[in-house]
Amino acid sequence: MKDFLQQIEKRRTFAIISHPDAGKTTLTEKLLLYGGAIQQAGIVKGKKGARAATSDWMEIEKQRGISVTSSVLQFNYDGYCVNILDTPGHQDFSEDTYRTLMAADSAVMVIDAAKGVENQTKKLFKVCTMRGIPIFTFINKMDRDSRDPFDLMEEIENVLGIQTYPMNWPIGSGKDFKGVYDRQRREILAFKHDGKVGVNQAQSISAKLGDADLDELITAPLHETLAADIELLDGASYEFDREMVNNGKLTPVFFGSALTNFGVEPFIKEFLALTTPPLPRHSSAGMIDPIENDDFSAFVFKIQANMNKAHRDRIAFMRIVSGRFERGMDVFHVQGGKKVRLSQSTQLMASEREIVDEAFAGDIIGIFDPGIFSIGDTITTAKTPFTFDSIPTFAPEHFARISQVDTMKRKQFVKGMEQIAQEGAIQIFKEPGGGFEEVIVGVVGVLQLEVLEHRLKTEYNVDIRMQTLPYQFIRWIENEDVDLRKLNITSDTKALEDFRDRKLLLFTSQWNINWATEKNPDLKLVDVAQN
Ligand code: G4P
Repeated sequence: MKDFLQQIEKRRTFAIISHPDAGKTTLTEKLLLYGGAIQQAGIVKGKKGARAATSDWMEIEKQRGISVTSSVLQFNYDGYCVNILDTPGHQDFSEDTYRTLMAADSAVMVIDAAKGVENQTKKLFKVCTMRGIPIFTFINKMDRDSRDPFDLMEEIENVLGIQTYPMNWPIGSGKDFKGVYDRQRREILAFKHDGKVGVNQAQSISAKLGDADLDELITAPLHETLAADIELLDGASYEFDREMVNNGKLTPVFFGSALTNFGVEPFIKEFLALTTPPLPRHSSAGMIDPIENDDFSAFVFKIQANMNKAHRDRIAFMRIVSGRFERGMDVFHVQGGKKVRLSQSTQLMASEREIVDEAFAGDIIGIFDPGIFSIGDTITTAKTPFTFDSIPTFAPEHFARISQVDTMKRKQFVKGMEQIAQEGAIQIFKEPGGGFEEVIVGVVGVLQLEVLEHRLKTEYNVDIRMQTLPYQFIRWIENEDVDLRKLNITSDTKALEDFRDRKLLLFTSQWNINWATEKNPDLKLVDVAQN
């Protein structure tokens, strides 16, 4: 029992988010370097665009040079068992990021010190705040000329609406990035160059403000600036408030350079100490707390197909909420109403899959999925099964009519569409009472339509015709007894059903939504489908 609790207490599960190119991949790699999971930097991400297998799962990623899918990395560091959930950088996949955050207990936001808060940072930050999880900020690329750190703090506060608390403060930037000042310990960490940029762990020398040899270590002007900055900071910035950090209202900020490794160690140490062990999750049976519940329980937050061309397979990623996972165990798949044996489990570590025999709350396991799981599903060994709160689906904003070119391939087409929809990459709609003759697909980002076409062709050998439609808004109808034919709606509003037979309307404009609600006073429209 003691061992069981220790296993939970030492786990830290988080996601890293950033605007593309701010340095998320580099920071992830450096965390692996410090965790001893890789011996030398340069493995996760190869030279010039040759991203290694972690994010190489789909051709389309390579062609476009973006990371569409998420990976899970686990390593031990300083007595902690760290689980990093990687999130896609492209904005068209922010729904995927949201689901990944459902599995995380905190998030690390990487910001480019020269650019500050960028577009995608804003979007991802919003997704984080929807989850209300703690957010830690790593201001990266301090080895380049950077913006004034006070300006950066102000921008984070004003644009993102979160209070900041600098845990450390940079000493210089660009070529003169000499180190960081640790505000808690009131200590300077001056970095030492070893001539090999970022390959090995960074070395540093500790010193105190006012030390006689500090001028030599960080130069007299930087010493002076630092003393003035610290005085200003101590007087002006918010108090450090752990409760506010836990609620995502205040972000602890760290400065560093993932490329040179400077500031990576102070960040990881402090971050792991501050962030929480696995948090409880809400369910139909109340809160499921890993400390109080011994029964195994987990939920599916992501389904990934086609991870390996050699074996055509699909993996359901699950976040363990409570209990202990053992390979081969029997669990109850609540939504499927069936017992399943979790015999083939896998965890992803860089390019290799490792088989996991045992896992605990906070861990992510991948289970080979013959097509039975959907996003949000619960599995458990509890005597009285329960379901975790469902993961809301984002309202799609782009729609297209899809039909197969070769009608003989109907079976493959239906299978492909169903499976891709189960993964949560697309939502499919049909004419009321209709089937798969012709379907309308809704996606959050247009790139998902491209992925759909590509995957149907390569994985299911089906060519499709796609006609993009002018709709921009979806509203599900809550009234159960509504007759779609009798609704008073504009001619360019489309009435459809989803594949769970829930009725809905697609609109081309807000004006048409207003029309529908005004002309049909009893109509109850919602923009999130209730599961
Ligand atoms: P991302 O995952 O957030 O998209 O960013 P990624 O880590 O891929 O980094 C984007 C670019 O920024 C890379 O350069 C990377 O080397 C560089 N970079 C990351 N962290 C730092 C840092 O602390 N300082 C500096 N100066 N650069 C940094 P690239 O030229 O696009 O790729 P590569 O050819 O160098 O691998």
